[in-house]
Amino acid sequence: MAENGSSGKNTLSIRDNRTGRDYEVDILEGDVIRAMDLRQIKVGDDDFGMMAYDPAYKNTASTRSTVTYIDGAKGILRYRGYPIDQLAERSTHLEVAYLLLKGELPSQSELDDFVHEVTYHTYVHENIIDLMEGFRYDAHAMGMCISGVAALSTFYPEAKDVHNPQARWEQIIRLIAKMPTLAAYAYRHHRGLPYVYPENELSYSANFLNMLFRIGTRDYTPSPVLERALDVLFILHADHEQNCSTTTMRVIGSADADPYSALAGAMGALYGPLHGGANEAVLRMLKRIGSVDNIPDFMEGVKNREERLMGFGHRVYKAYDPRAQIIKRTADEVFEVTGRNPLLDIALELEKIALNEDFFVERNLYPNVDFYSGIIYQAMGFPVEMFPVLFAIPRTVGWLAQWQELLEDDEQKIARPRQVYVGPDERDFVPMENRG
Ligand code: CMC
Repeated sequence: MAENGSSGKNTLSIRDNRTGRDYEVDILEGDVIRAMDLRQIKVGDDDFGMMAYDPAYKNTASTRSTVTYIDGAKGILRYRGYPIDQLAERSTHLEVAYLLLKGELPSQSELDDFVHEVTYHTYVHENIIDLMEGFRYDAHAMGMCISGVAALSTFYPEAKDVHNPQARWEQIIRLIAKMPTLAAYAYRHHRGLPYVYPENELSYSANFLNMLFRIGTRDYTPSPVLERALDVLFILHADHEQNCSTTTMRVIGSADADPYSALAGAMGALYGPLHGGANEAVLRMLKRIGSVDNIPDFMEGVKNREERLMGFGHRVYKAYDPRAQIIKRTADEVFEVTGRNPLLDIALELEKIALNEDFFVERNLYPNVDFYSGIIYQAMGFPVEMFPVLFAIPRTVGWLAQWQELLEDDEQKIARPRQVYVGPDERDFVPMENRG
C-alpha cells in the first residue's frame, strides 16, 4: 500500500508546462516508473508521446531481476541474497553456478549431480581443434574463444529451441562445461603445444589448469592453493547484474537467438578494455609504468586526462569494489606459492596515491575487480591474452542465469530502444554533377 509522501500515494505527479496538463504515474518497487507511462504525455493528439532519453542506460532499469544485488554506494554484492565474501570463503564455483542458475543452494545430491553433468560435458567435437588450427600462431585467445563458442551453435541445432526448458538446460550445462576446454585449446594453440583433453576426475578449476599446463606427463597436479585461488576468482566473476556484456547477452537472447550465438556476442562486449579487457589493460599499464619512481609522472598524465588509470572506477560502485578486497587477500595466498609479483608494488603504490588524491576521491574512483586479478593471473603463469578469457569462463554462468531469467519473464520482448532523430529533414536526392 502507499506509504510515501504527504498524500500517502505511491505515485508521481507530472505537470507538462507546455500544455498545463497534469499526469499521475505509478511508482513501482525499486523507486521506478514505467517508461511507457510517459507515452501518454503529448502536446497534440498525433504526437508520438514522451520518451526518456538515456544514452548508455545510466539511469534505466531494463529488467526486474532476482539474480544479483549490488549496492554501489555501500560496496555490497550478493548472489541470490548471499554476500559475495561468504560465497568466496565457503563455496565452490560450481556450487555458486547452481545457486545463480536455480536460485537456491543445492543439497549434496543436487550438487553431486550438477558437478557430474558439467564434468561429463567438457569434451568438444574434434572439429573445434581444426577451427583452432585455422588461427594464426599469434591470434588473441579471446578472439579464438569467441569463434569457438559461436561455432558450437552449429554442433547443437537443438539449441535454437530456446523456449524448451529441457533443451535450454542442456545448453547451459554444455556451455559451462566446454568454456574451459575452448579456453585451454586457445592457449595451447598460441603456445604451439598439443591439446590436452579434459580429465573427468579433476575439479572444475583443476581440470582447467591441467588442460593448460600439463606437459609430457599424465600426473600433473596443480597446487591446491592455486586451484582454490582460481575457483575463488571464478566465484567473484560469476555475475554482476546488468553490465555491458550481460545486457548484450539479454539483447541478443531477446531475439530468441541460440545461447551459443548470444554468448559469443556477450564475450565480444566483455573483450573491450573498458569492461573485461581491463585486467589485460591493467597489466600492460603496470608494465609500462615499470617502477614506483615513474608513478608520479604517470599520475600527472591521468589527471591531465591523457589516459585512464585502468582497473579503477566503476559505473555502479562508488565505494571500494568488494571483489577487489577479496582478490587482494587471494593475491597474498597465491604469492606464497608463486613468489611475489614485482608489479604488485607498483599497483599498491598507485592505489595508495589514488585513494588520497582529490582527482580520484572527488570522482569516487576506487580499485575495481580488474585491478589486482591480472597480477594474480600473471603470477600463476597466464599470459595477458588469457586474462579476458579468465573473466569469460566464470561469467558464462551469470550470462546464462540472466538469459534464462529473460526467457522466463513475461514482460520481456525483443529489445528495441528508441532514438531521438536529430539528422536532416527530408531533402531531395542531388545528382552527382550538381554536388558541391
Ligand atoms: N581513470 C581516470 N579517470 C577516470 C577513470 C579512470 N579509470 N574512470 C573514470 N574516470 C573519470 C572520468 O574521466 C570522469 O571524469 P569527469 O567527470 O571529470 O569527466 C569521471 O571519472 C566519471 O567517469 P565516466 O567515464 O563518466 O564513468 P563511467 O561510469 O561511464 O565509466 C568505467 C565507468 C569503468 C568505464 C570507467 O571508470 C573506466 O574507464 N575505468 C577504467 C577501465 C576499467 O577498469 N574497467 C573495468 C570495470 S570493472 C569490471 C567490469 O565490470 O567490466
